[in-house]
Amino acid sequence: LATTRRLLILSAALLAGGSALAQAPIVIKFSHVVANDTPKGKAADFFAKRAAELTGGKVKVEVYANSTLYKDKEEMEALQLGAVQMLAPSLAKFGPLGAKEFEVFDLPFIFDNYAELHKVTQGPVGQMLLSKLEGRGVKGLAFWDNGFKSFSANKPLKNVDDFKGVKMRIQSSKVLEAQMRAIGVLPQQMAFSEVYQALQTGVVDGTENPHSNLFTQKMHEVQKHVSVSDHGYLGYAVISNKKFWDGLPADVRGKLEQAMKESTEYANKIAKEENEAALEKVKASGKSQVYAMSPAERLALKKAMTKVHAEMASRIGQDVINAVYKETG
Ligand code: LMR
Repeated sequence: LATTRRLLILSAALLAGGSALAQAPIVIKFSHVVANDTPKGKAADFFAKRAAELTGGKVKVEVYANSTLYKDKEEMEALQLGAVQMLAPSLAKFGPLGAKEFEVFDLPFIFDNYAELHKVTQGPVGQMLLSKLEGRGVKGLAFWDNGFKSFSANKPLKNVDDFKGVKMRIQSSKVLEAQMRAIGVLPQQMAFSEVYQALQTGVVDGTENPHSNLFTQKMHEVQKHVSVSDHGYLGYAVISNKKFWDGLPADVRGKLEQAMKESTEYANKIAKEENEAALEKVKASGKSQVYAMSPAERLALKKAMTKVHAEMASRIGQDVINAVYKETG
């Protein structure tokens, strides 16, 4: 009897141990480079919350904001190595991964507004672009909005001539490099986490970003002028390590897909408001002078920049550019 009891206790203990193991949450490290208080930061936190709720705690998403875990280039490598499971890099950062098609989003003046953008990101062209990542060990999950970019510098930027010889930080996109050269800007590529200091110390004179990034990184405190130009778009693709994603239990993956769908709706709902609010805060700070470019000034900028579409066609793929043109009319 004693032996039987001991066996019973032992098997109960084993069972308990087994179920404890089964309950250990699946941890997803989600790394990004912006502040929590931005469209991407908020959407990542929202995803973490919904993932926990929908899976009943089976998944724990740990969000690492503000480049605390990895900077731009390293985070891509970390994802491919499996050191992190999720990222939402800017669409301008997929070139180094070999997905040059994503630079179509960087073409100046390609979208007039969010409605045009969504026809691409939330439609078949967007799906086609995400599927291109599969061969690179990356699972493309969704597109999240940020917004339209403004220029900033220590001098007023109104006319095309004002840009000549200004050194500006860019993201790692050849299209952005060409866009800057088209107006005589000297582009310098650097990680997002280094921009504030580079502006402060004069390593570069200016940059381009949506207002939510400008404000939350305090760039406006080290830039005397902001020109609201809406000359180009900056947004994100949410991605995962493909092996990790495909290896998730099907029911868990289904719940995460639902959480991603909700987070995408949330991100794309708040982005415009967040950027508008950030611009108001920049104005209220009195640290930099905000100038809204006139329609004529914008048109001159557009004329100077649109040659980049043809220049970059062989890099991006004319078919991809045409597919975007078709969606946006
Ligand atoms: C930048 O590097 O300027 C942006 O891509 C940062 C971001 O993630 O919005």
